[in-house]
Amino acid sequence: MRAPRILVTGGAGFIGSHTCVALIAAGYLPVVLDTLVNSDARSLQRVACITGVEPVLVCGDVRDAVALDRVFAAYNVAAVVHLAGLKAVGESVADPVSYYDVNLAGTLALVQAMDRAGVRRLVFSSSATVYGDSQPSPIAESAPYAAVNPYGRTKAMVESVLADLARADARWGIACLRYFNPIGAHESGLLGERPHGPPNNLMPYIAQVAAGQRECLVVHGADYDTVDGTGVRDYVHVMDVAEGHVSALRHAARRPGILMANLGTGRGASVLEVVSAFERASGRRIALRIGPRRPGDAPAYWADARGAWQAFGWRARRDLDQMCADSWRWQAANPHGFDDPAPAHASGLPRFQDNTSTSINSKPGHSHA
Ligand code: NAD
Ligand code: UFG
Repeated sequence: MRAPRILVTGGAGFIGSHTCVALIAAGYLPVVLDTLVNSDARSLQRVACITGVEPVLVCGDVRDAVALDRVFAAYNVAAVVHLAGLKAVGESVADPVSYYDVNLAGTLALVQAMDRAGVRRLVFSSSATVYGDSQPSPIAESAPYAAVNPYGRTKAMVESVLADLARADARWGIACLRYFNPIGAHESGLLGERPHGPPNNLMPYIAQVAAGQRECLVVHGADYDTVDGTGVRDYVHVMDVAEGHVSALRHAARRPGILMANLGTGRGASVLEVVSAFERASGRRIALRIGPRRPGDAPAYWADARGAWQAFGWRARRDLDQMCADSWRWQAANPHGFDDPAPAHASGLPRFQDNTSTSINSKPGHSHA
């Protein structure tokens, strides 16, 4: 029997490409829809190096109803994992309309197309940012929405739309996964995070300092009321997050309705604890200086991670040392990201391509992958 096809929007990105690896390992065939606005098509070649299967890439926009209809008509899709979106908090403050357009209108276009196609199984990439910055930790899923920036509000609004949809139509099975801080890379060193430009986030910044590509890490504040004064977050390995999608997908396929689940470890780590773990993993010293607090940063939060375990049997298995070791392996082997050739030993697996990569677009002249 043919493996079920899963449409993965945003599947060429950081979490999406790792999710493709996990889906293939679990016996699914990902079909990726991505504009590549914040990613690189070569991430999917790295997925093929790891798994032996190169996902189909459809270069198209999740807001494009005609493109979506063509994808559902061309591929016999069983379910959707929806990761496509914009995710930079600062940018969302400066340009909120683009965030509501891509994240909210994009999801509306997607669920309408899914409904037309009769595909009603959905896993959505949400974020701990829906909780805002004043909930006591550990934060459970029952905490109220209190997002403090447009990015977070787009995620909360999408969750509300999906909850209304699930209430109105019992044929839908939906899981909203609220990621805390996904970091790390695939353990092979073949796939990882490659931000465009200077990284905003802690882990890729540390990795680039370790590699000598940036002079020093600026710690955004060391006067918080935390273990060492620096910000505390719940860092979770990206492969644990990826595997969480597989578990959630199976849950959504079995159970109609909607589920909100945190994906975190249930433990917080400070900026300086992450730096120390990275120094141990890499054997390199991370130069740093203490700077002012970053506007909008919360001092400390971490997940109550029990909900995902109770609902669909997922919990994080990899610790901070492994997150750092895997990030460093990726960074050291690929200092220029996907511009670096995949190591020769990676091509040992036979490669299978589900179909030719293609562009399904309603707008003439749109660029192809
Ligand atoms: P990413 O930028 O690497 O991946 C997003 C992907 O979506 C990219 O490949 C991008 O090209 C694509 N995309 C953007 N707009 C699109 C559009 N209109 N149509 C089709 N594709 C489009 O980011 P990521 O870290 O992999 O995040 C994936 C999802 O997880 C996002 O929805 C993000 O909001 C959410 N999330 C991420 C984090 C995190 O810390 N990385 C935390 C919580 C939630
Ligand atoms: N930090 C530094 N220096 C840096 C970068 C970050 O000290 O150069 C600190 C921050 O102040 C914070 C911690 O490292 O204390 C983590 O910061 P990140 O930027 O890596 O992550 P955030 O917690 O700010 O936000 C991330 C994603 C959001 C998502 C949120 C969910 O970027 O999109 O996790 O928990 F919503």
